[in-house]
Amino acid sequence: MTDFATADYFSDQDIAQDPYEYLDYLRAQNPVFREPNYGVVAVTGYDEAVAAFKDYETFSAVNAIGGPFPPLPFEPEGDDISEQIDAHRHLFPINEMMVVMDPPAHTRARSLLSRLLTPARLKENEDFMWELADRQLDEFIRNGKCELLAEYGKPFATLVIADLLGVPDDDRAEFRASLGAGKEPGSAVGALDHTPVAVNPLEWLDGKFTGYINERRRHPREDVLNSLAAATYPDGTTPDVVDVVRAATFLFAAGQETVVKLLSASTRVLAERPDLQDKLRADRSLIGNFIEESLRIESPTKVDFRLARKTTTLGGVDIKAGTVLMLCLGAANRDPRKFSQPDEFHLDRRNVREHITFGRGIHTCAGAPLARVEAKVTLNRLLDRMTDIAIDETQHGAAGARRYRYEPTFLLRGLSELHLAFAPVD
Ligand code: HEM
Repeated sequence: MTDFATADYFSDQDIAQDPYEYLDYLRAQNPVFREPNYGVVAVTGYDEAVAAFKDYETFSAVNAIGGPFPPLPFEPEGDDISEQIDAHRHLFPINEMMVVMDPPAHTRARSLLSRLLTPARLKENEDFMWELADRQLDEFIRNGKCELLAEYGKPFATLVIADLLGVPDDDRAEFRASLGAGKEPGSAVGALDHTPVAVNPLEWLDGKFTGYINERRRHPREDVLNSLAAATYPDGTTPDVVDVVRAATFLFAAGQETVVKLLSASTRVLAERPDLQDKLRADRSLIGNFIEESLRIESPTKVDFRLARKTTTLGGVDIKAGTVLMLCLGAANRDPRKFSQPDEFHLDRRNVREHITFGRGIHTCAGAPLARVEAKVTLNRLLDRMTDIAIDETQHGAAGARRYRYEPTFLLRGLSELHLAFAPVD
C-alpha cells in the first residue's frame, strides 16, 4: 500500500493502476499542491487547471509532454525565464511538434492544421468511418467474443487518421502494420514484422509523408495530400516541407492511443452496465452524453504539463518562475466542487460538457470533433451488430471481482486489454 505523503506519482505502479485516490489526496491537501519528489506542482482543482491552461503568457507549453523528464536543461534565473526557455527550446522533447510550441510559432503551426481539418474533409472522413467500423467488426464478429483494443480500436484509430490525411489506399495496410495496429487478416504486408523494434513509427511516418508532400509539390494532383502540400500560412508564405510533415505526423501521435483509450473506456461501461446498454439501444440520441461522461470519468490524457515562465500565483499558491506544473485533467474532471458525485457515471449529468479532457485555451485538442465522431460511430455500430454485450468473465473475472490492467504510464489513462463476449446480430 502506497504512503501518499511520500508517493512518487511518476513511478508508483499502484497509483498507475488506480490514480484517483491519490489525486483526491493531493486535492485534499490543496488544489494546487507541490508533490515531494520532483517539486512538481500538481493542479488537481478544476478552476485552477482551467486558469493555468488559459494563461499561456505565464505558463509555457514547452514541457507539455515530458513534465519533469528530462530535468530542465538550464538553471532558472529570476522572475521571468522567457529568454532562457527560448534559448533552450531545441533541447526539449518533441520540440518540433505544435503541442509544445508557444505563440507565435504555435499560431503558425496550428494554422496549417486548420487548412486540413475543414468541415468538408471531416464529413468525408466520417462517411469512411461508418464503412471502416463494419469492416473491422466483420473481422471477428462471428467469434462472439473479441479483445477490443487489438481487434477493433487500434486498427480503427490508425486507419481513420490515414484516411483523414488522404493516405493512398494501396499504402494503408502498411500503415496499419507499421503503426502497431496489427495486420489485416490474409494481408501480404509482413515485411516490417521481422524488424518491429527497429522501426521507429514517427521516423517511419516522417519518411512516408516527406515523400508524399515532395511528390505533390513537384507534380500536383487532385487528392487530399495535395491540399496539404499546397497549404500556406495565413500570410501567404509556403511552409517548409518538414513543417507540413510534422503537422501531419503529429496527428498519429496525438490521435491514436488517446482514441483507443476513449473507445475502450466507453465500451467497458457499456458492457458493465446492461441498464445503460438498454437505454442507448432505445434512444441513440443519448450516445452523445454517454461519450462525454466517459471522457469525463476516464480522461485518456491523465495529466499534462506547463512550465511557469514568470513568478506568479495560482489558486493563491506562490509559483516561482521555472516551476513545473502538472495539470491533472483526470482529477479536475472529478473535482467535487465542479461535478457532483464525481466518481459515479451519470448519463444525465447536466454540466458534463464542461469537462476538460481535451484541454483548454490555445492548445485545446484539434482532434476533439474527430475523437467524438469515432466514438459515436463505434458505439452505434457495436449496438447495431451485437446484442448482450458483456465483459468476458474468463478474462476479467466475475462481476464484483473484476481484474483490469491499465497501461502503466503517468501520462495516459487506458485499459491494456478489454475482452468482450456478445451475441452477433445476423
Ligand atoms: C479522446 C481522444 C483525445 C484526447 C483525450 C486528446 C487530448 C488532448 C489534449 C488534452 C490536448 C491538449 C494538450 C495541451 O494543452 O498540452 C490535445 C492536443 C492536441 N490533440 Fe488531442 N486528444 C484526443 C484525440 C485527438 C485526435 C483524434 C487528434 C487528431 C487526429 C488530436 C490532435 C491533437 C493535436 C494536433 C493537438 C495539439 C493542439 C495544439 O497544440 O494546438 N487529438 N489533445
